[in-house]
This record gives sequence, structure tokens and C-alpha cells, in this order.
Amino acid sequence: MPNLAPMDLVELFRKELELCKVTAGESLVILAEPASRSEYVEAAFAAALALKAHVIQATLPGGSPVPLPSSRTGSGAGLTSLDDNPLALSLLQGADMVLDLTNEGFIHTESLGKILGANTRMLFVADPPEVLARNLPTAEDKDRVRAGAALLKAGRELRVTSPHGTDLAADLTDAHPGFQCGIADDPGRWDHWPSTMVLGWPKTSEGQIVIAPGDILLPFKTYVRDEVTLIIEKGRINEIKGTGGDARLLERFFADADDEEARFLSHMGWGLMKNADWFAMALYDRESLMGMDARGLAGNFLFSTGPHPFMDRHTYNHLDIPLRGCTVAVDGHTVVDDGVLVETD
Ligand SMILES: [Fe+2]
Repeated sequence: MPNLAPMDLVELFRKELELCKVTAGESLVILAEPASRSEYVEAAFAAALALKAHVIQATLPGGSPVPLPSSRTGSGAGLTSLDDNPLALSLLQGADMVLDLTNEGFIHTESLGKILGANTRMLFVADPPEVLARNLPTAEDKDRVRAGAALLKAGRELRVTSPHGTDLAADLTDAHPGFQCGIADDPGRWDHWPSTMVLGWPKTSEGQIVIAPGDILLPFKTYVRDEVTLIIEKGRINEIKGTGGDARLLERFFADADDEEARFLSHMGWGLMKNADWFAMALYDRESLMGMDARGLAGNFLFSTGPHPFMDRHTYNHLDIPLRGCTVAVDGHTVVDDGVLVETD
């Protein structure tokens, strides 16, 4: 029996590159590291040829160790071999688009800013094929997340509550609202396939967040078993309450990090990805997926800790924690009602 799976991938990548408006004559660099999924590199190469783009495949040495294991975590430094490689950097800066097939990406790095600053657009892809296919974005998804980001931009306060006791008020002043939609189609834009979310970077927040059983801790990729309450004062986690193992785990994480920046809240927002599967993480080998189903699930509240580029905090001690069953409102306008997404006009 011939293996036709790579053919499916070619079609999948062609659709995605079309969404990213890759056109004939554009230059596309497929960036990889030795441990990248080789079938993704091959499929993307074929898809780019089908679209008559000028395609180059570049493989750099793999990422180096960082404070957390740097494979599909969303928190690591990624491909640090780029940092002292001006020729590679200039190649990426000179491209119309970079398709980043490295395992960790450049999410929180200085190199990313240099590439985007040169008006190169960039799409990061790290999840398994079925996760990509199930969550293939549509052009409408960009409109949906832009509507949410506009609401954040006009808002003064993001309020999150839950039956478990979450009650957080985040100040939206100068909170740099943004979005991810799984499509990188504008010059200088970074995006991540799959992802559909609205997010901002509040500079301060007050209240408490209750992480309930069944919620998810990333990058650990675990489902929470015991309730944990985080007491937030001036945007900082001042206290961790809870009698179970998950509270101890988070206490240990912050203690081991020994990093004051790690204790501050980072980005927060809500998911709009309709086909996301909360249980995907339970069905895959941990290293094989990024966990974007959990981060982007429609109706979640996603908050995070650690880095805050607009407050000059650049720690790699970064947790992404998506919660179910919350109500999220911007100045009283509900965008998630008891864990159910409310579309913004
Ligand atoms: Fe994050």
C-alpha cells in the first residue's frame, strides 16, 4: 500500500498558504531545524511550488536548552542558533514570508522582532497533522478576532468571574490588545496555526483566579485535579492557596524559578477556536503537540504568567493556563458567558 499521507499534507499546507496570501513570485522561506517534522517541510515546499512562490528551505542547528525544555512549550527561547547567524537572519528578513517549522518557534525572542520589523510575515506551525486539519482557519476568523481586539482597545476593564470563585479585574489602559487567527497575511505579522484568540497585556490586575479541576496547566500539559486559588495584587501572584497537589506544584514552580518576573501576570484573553478539542492533549504524546487546542478553545479564558514585553519583563518562566466555565466581560459587555463564547459584532 503506498503512503499517501504526505499528499494530504500538501493539500493542507496549500490551503493554509493560500489563506496567508502566498502568491506567485513571492519569496517564502521554510525554516526548519534537524528535529522538525520532515513531512511538514516536504509538504510546505510542494505547496509553495504549486502556488508558484520562490521557495527556499533553510535548516539551522536545533534550539539550545533553556530554563524549561524547549520543545513545543510556548515558553522557550526557540532557535537560538539564529542569534549569532547574521546571514540566516538577513535571509529571513529578506523574505516576504517565513513558515516557521521549528519545534519551539520564536515567540518570546528578540530575533522575532528583527524579522517582523523587516516587514516579513511569519507563521509558526508545531502541532500534529490532525490538529492542524481540524483547526484550519477561515478568512472570517480574522474578522471575529479583530472585533474582539477592538472591544479590548476601547475598553477600560476586563472582568473575569466563575462559579468556582474567580473574580479578577484587569486594567485595559495601554494593554496592547491583539489577536491570533492562524493566518499570517499582513506584512510584519506573526501568527500561529492553529490559533484563534483575542488577548491583551494588562499592566495591572486585582482579585483572584481559581483554577478548577479539569483546567489545564501549560507547558506542563496536565489537567488540574485539585482547586488552586491565586491571589493577585497589582498584577502579581502574591499567594497560592489550595490543599492539593496542583497548588504545591505551582508553589514549587515559582520557588524553583527564583525569578520575581515569573510571578506577574502576562497576556490574557479568550479563545474563539470553534473546532478545538479540549481532550486532544490527553490523546497525544506530550512532546508531539503544542497544546493550541487548549489555548484557543472557543469560550475559554486564557491567562498567563511571566514575560511582559510592554513592561520590559523577558523571563522564559511562562505559564499558559486556560480555564473553562468563566464569564468574561469588557466594561460589562460579555464575550464569554459561563464558558460559552459570545461572538462580538
Ligand atoms: Fe503564552
